[in-house]
Amino acid sequence: MELDKIVDPILLFKQWLSEAEKKEIRDPNAMQLATVSKNGMPSVRTVLLKDIINCDFVFYTNYESRKSNEINETGKGAICFYWKSLNRQVRLVGDITKVSEDISDKYYKSRSRGSRIGAWASKQSRELESREALMEEVRLFESKYTDDIPRPSHWGGFALKPIEFEFWQDSDFRLHDRFILKPTKQNNQWIAKRHYP
Ligand SMILES: Cc1cc2nc3c(=O)[nH]c(=O)nc-3n(C[C@H](O)[C@H](O)[C@H](O)COP(=O)(O)O)c2cc1C
Repeated sequence: MELDKIVDPILLFKQWLSEAEKKEIRDPNAMQLATVSKNGMPSVRTVLLKDIINCDFVFYTNYESRKSNEINETGKGAICFYWKSLNRQVRLVGDITKVSEDISDKYYKSRSRGSRIGAWASKQSRELESREALMEEVRLFESKYTDDIPRPSHWGGFALKPIEFEFWQDSDFRLHDRFILKPTKQNNQWIAKRHYP
């Protein structure tokens, strides 16, 4: 790939992800998501990339979790993928917003029954007295929802809209060391610039 040329980071990302899907032992879509509180304290955890809608990276979570509280406070986040099998890294920074109710509903419906019950049972990020207390919640919602399970309003998707990408590869095949892509002001096309590794 020629640097300083306009490239499509989404196409490139999808290409790297599909290569990772063939090589990684598990969860090639796992990404580190960093958020920051209004006081500037960062926190990071792994979530799964579930979709890319237009340019936006979509993941699902509990809307009352720590990450969600921080997203509500600042609306900003960063994502990092590291694929050990390829020795590649992709980083993104951007604004995070909730996806539409329709998108969350559609994804929620596609999940296994156990995962849908889990979304009801888990008060993610809050203190849990015992494992048994969680299993009791699971039993409760299993008996409450014997047939259709509605999506809890406290569970849904977020989308990070990237304002910057970084692609990094520890080799000189095709994509050299490290380059950063930012959109041009005029027409929102992406320009890649090589950076020191
Ligand atoms: C491989 C992996 C995938 C995960 N995927 C998700 C996910 O898609 N959504 C989610 O809410 N938590 C996911 N988790 C759990 C989070 O890392 C984290 O423990 C949880 O979301 C609570 O984070 P918070 O308290 O910072 O909000 C995953 C953990 C691992 C190790």
